[in-house]
Amino acid sequence: MLKIAVLVSGGGTNLQAIIDSIADGRITDTEIKVVISNNPKAKALERAAKAGIEAVCISPKQYADRELFNDALLEAVNARGVDLIVLAGFMVVVPEKMIKAYRNRMINIHPSLIPSFCGTGYYGLHVHEAALKRGVKISGATVHFVDEGTDTGPIIMQKPVEVRPDDTPEVLQRRIMEQAEWQIMPKVIDLIAHDKVILLELHAVRADGVLEGAPIFHVLPEVKAELAFLTHTVEIMQDMEAVCCIQFLAARVHVVQTG
Ligand code: GAR
Repeated sequence: MLKIAVLVSGGGTNLQAIIDSIADGRITDTEIKVVISNNPKAKALERAAKAGIEAVCISPKQYADRELFNDALLEAVNARGVDLIVLAGFMVVVPEKMIKAYRNRMINIHPSLIPSFCGTGYYGLHVHEAALKRGVKISGATVHFVDEGTDTGPIIMQKPVEVRPDDTPEVLQRRIMEQAEWQIMPKVIDLIAHDKVILLELHAVRADGVLEGAPIFHVLPEVKAELAFLTHTVEIMQDMEAVCCIQFLAARVHVVQTG
């Protein structure tokens, strides 16, 4: 059973998609242990309570400084013994300690096709305003692992959505939620629950075998069988001119280091 914490700030429609997917079997072997909001007025808290899920508010305003808030947030997640943190519209800078403690075990949904319209300042409606301003014809959503950067972690799944000429930011936001976010977020959680997400850590190798530079991360979702996994791995290895060794298995996400 994959135990998850869902962190939210507002409406909670992505949370609702997760709750509904567990109820109707699109996500299996998964339990939402807790929903945490930084915002006491978040509708997401009501949605959690209605579904019989523990709903907690941890607001920065309750703490003397940011450090104390960060500690309280991490402690709240740790205390529930969760395997995976799901950021579903969580509009708070995630504490570094939390990123370290939950590396490869924290995912985020972003309402664009990363690397477009992401990073600092791109959240909620701002993302769709920027997409319309630029005149893109396709936008979409991305689920990715969380690392120290803003929206920079390894991409797990993306889904494109058409942008129409008469879209407003609100209309585009809704279409991206319906056609992409509410589908790929549950899908990724189900894949992780069934150990089907593989994170490859690829290194360039010098002739003498020493690893060079920073690694590149690749995620292979939906790897169904050992054979498929090895075939994919070998294909990527050949591209990278790297040799592969299975290094370790992180909790529920297979991490393969190649170098
Ligand atoms: C969603 O569109 C989500 O992708 C976005 O906030 C919205 C939350 O809606 N997240 C970000 O912009 C993160 N950078 P919800 O509370 O109804 O799920």
